[in-house]
Amino acid sequence: MQTARKKIIIDTDTASDDAVALVMALREPTLQVLAITTVAGNVPLELATKNACLSVTYAGGARPPIYPGADRPLCRPLRCAEGIHGKDGMGDQSCFRAPEVEAERTHAVDAILRLVREGEGDIEIVTLGPLTNLALAILQEPETMKRVPRITAMGGAAFYGNTSPTAEFNFWVDAEAADIVCRSGIPLTIVTGEAGLEAGVLGPEKLELLEAASERGWFCVTCNDTMRQNSIRSRGYPQIGLPDPIALAALTRPELITGSFDAHVRVETQGSDLTYGMMVCDRRPPEYGAVSKHEGPRQPFQAKVVYEMDPEGFFQYLYELVK
Ligand code: BDR
Ligand code: CA
Repeated sequence: MQTARKKIIIDTDTASDDAVALVMALREPTLQVLAITTVAGNVPLELATKNACLSVTYAGGARPPIYPGADRPLCRPLRCAEGIHGKDGMGDQSCFRAPEVEAERTHAVDAILRLVREGEGDIEIVTLGPLTNLALAILQEPETMKRVPRITAMGGAAFYGNTSPTAEFNFWVDAEAADIVCRSGIPLTIVTGEAGLEAGVLGPEKLELLEAASERGWFCVTCNDTMRQNSIRSRGYPQIGLPDPIALAALTRPELITGSFDAHVRVETQGSDLTYGMMVCDRRPPEYGAVSKHEGPRQPFQAKVVYEMDPEGFFQYLYELVK
């Protein structure tokens, strides 16, 4: 008997590692991707949307609608990551063919709310970028969004950040949005930057295997060329990091998770540049007893925080989907 596919919406600031996650999701037989929604983050919104269209083209599988969303964070100016992903987010290559799909005109937030409203409480969301679209949907229709059974979010730093000592890029770009999502009551799986630090890193051998696997394997490696070239310059050999594909794998292959803890998670929005966007995990177990009189009421754990995945298992999974 065939089991029902998991219905998901993917929200992405599509640049090079998001592109790999999109290719994987669209090849994954256990998933039904209902929509891809885009958000400003790694690159401005227009590029993120174009890159999502390109990724769908190269994935060579299902072609879900693509809805452009927020073009800037809720309260702060947009800060991008071109140094990691290239000016266009896809390694600044001239060899890719033109996207064969176009984005819809409907705003991502309207599309998310409609799909969740019309669904049967079974539509999960995977976020690969800043949480601006999700926060806007929650602010607009909190009750509708309570129908989402789980959000799997690539974001947050369990121990140390990649953009400041304490903050990971997606939470740092729009900490206000990340905190709204954490306070929404929707169950969360937070796949931190650290989860990809070992498992999501592809060195020379893995890059060669992936590149030779298929045209889409070549696409996955080539769009990450800015990272690859940065590594050749700094380390002397090619290497890329894939945090977003790691988040997708945490959803579809939870047996690859080797390190996680449960917590009540919030995100710092008031801090200085040392702590803005920092993920704060209250891990005090129920038996800890009463909390201090100086804090609000005790909050239940709403998040599973993933900080480690199986490197070989992840690469095998990626290779199988891409070949
Ligand atoms: C995250 O930030 C972006 O650069 C990546 O696409 C990923 O979503 C890693 O911190
Ligand atoms: Ca991303």
